[in-house]
Amino acid sequence: MLELDDITAARERVAETSRHTPLSHTYTFSSMTGADVYLKQEMLQRTGSFKIRGATNRIATLPEETLDAGVVTASAGNHAQGVALAATRMGVDATVVMPEYAPIQKVKATRAYGADVVLHGVDYDEAAEFAHEIEREEGRYYLPAFDDWEVMAGQGTIGLELLEDLPEVETVVVPVGGGGLVSGVATALKGHDPDIRVIGVQAEGASSAAPSMQSGERVELDSVDTIADGIATRSLGERTFQVIRERVDEVVTVSDADIAVAIVTLLERSKTLTEGAGAVSLAALLEGAFDYDDDEVIALALCGGNIDMNTLSTVIIRGLAETGRYLRVRTVLPDRPGALESLIDIISDQDANIYGIRHDRSSRDVSLDDAEVEVDLETRGPEHIEQLLEALEDGGYGLTVLT
Ligand SMILES: Cc1ncc(COP(=O)(O)O)c(C=O)c1O
Repeated sequence: MLELDDITAARERVAETSRHTPLSHTYTFSSMTGADVYLKQEMLQRTGSFKIRGATNRIATLPEETLDAGVVTASAGNHAQGVALAATRMGVDATVVMPEYAPIQKVKATRAYGADVVLHGVDYDEAAEFAHEIEREEGRYYLPAFDDWEVMAGQGTIGLELLEDLPEVETVVVPVGGGGLVSGVATALKGHDPDIRVIGVQAEGASSAAPSMQSGERVELDSVDTIADGIATRSLGERTFQVIRERVDEVVTVSDADIAVAIVTLLERSKTLTEGAGAVSLAALLEGAFDYDDDEVIALALCGGNIDMNTLSTVIIRGLAETGRYLRVRTVLPDRPGALESLIDIISDQDANIYGIRHDRSSRDVSLDDAEVEVDLETRGPEHIEQLLEALEDGGYGLTVLT
């Protein structure tokens, strides 16, 4: 079982390769919620996530003979980069197997951190199988992503930094994928003060932890589906499940829409870029997924910032749409001069800004003397949208809201 001493021992080893990341008080989220909210800015960690901590501690605790043959792992995301940089900085040879579809930026970053990247398989499972073949053939050590005591101890050093920077902390909110991060953090915090509350957060489309805790059996999902790819894991590990059952007070879930809003809110209000998994703690707080008291001292772990720019642009639109700041609407106009202008007049009378407009006379969905029009609009919130739709309906337009 993992203990506080393991994490204290990991602290020095981890200092070789990783940063003590900043903790910042947030006036914005404190006033939005009534709690006293702090952000643990782990997205500023080297490689953009906490994964380098666990990888470093794992490598540092392996015997030299094992390290001579190097390490191997499989990952489509943050673990790949964490292992690559930890190994390079510790002078160890690393091979990382990534699925063939892995985003090119992640492949490039992993190579730039010094690993030998092998692209293999259509998904993580196939990549992992191949990594185990390399383990057998080349005698390399397979570095697990979460279900390993030393990996968990490394991730738990975030908990020690929190205790140092915010000794009065009452509740810590942590994303959960395979559970390595929350296991380490909960062990550090509870080992210091069992009254500190630890809340785990999963995405609704990948929520194996809450049912596992309820049933007392590790639940494995058939499939996962979430924009938070860092926590899109089908089950907890065997070891992480043991720790979580004992030391995590509650695991809650948030929807992809909540996550998109949290990413956009962090960008807009805190100038902070997070990936989906990095924003779930804020999503859980803002959505009231767990109870808290006024002025409760809450730290949110923002543990990764590696989001693909194409994904980010989609998430921004989704987050704006969720909060009533973006609207895509479809209508049908008679195909004659001035019809589009009349529609635009109503939109501009309502002070809505047009981002884009598509006017299609050849659409098969409308009759030959009509045109289909889709308008993308910048709006000021749900009430503004309501007013605008009402004005358009009063003007005789039949509407379909697309976003
Ligand atoms: C950004 C981010 N947050 C959270 C997690 C979840 O960590 P764990 O699998 O240890 O629960 C991951 C895992 O890759 C991650 O990349």
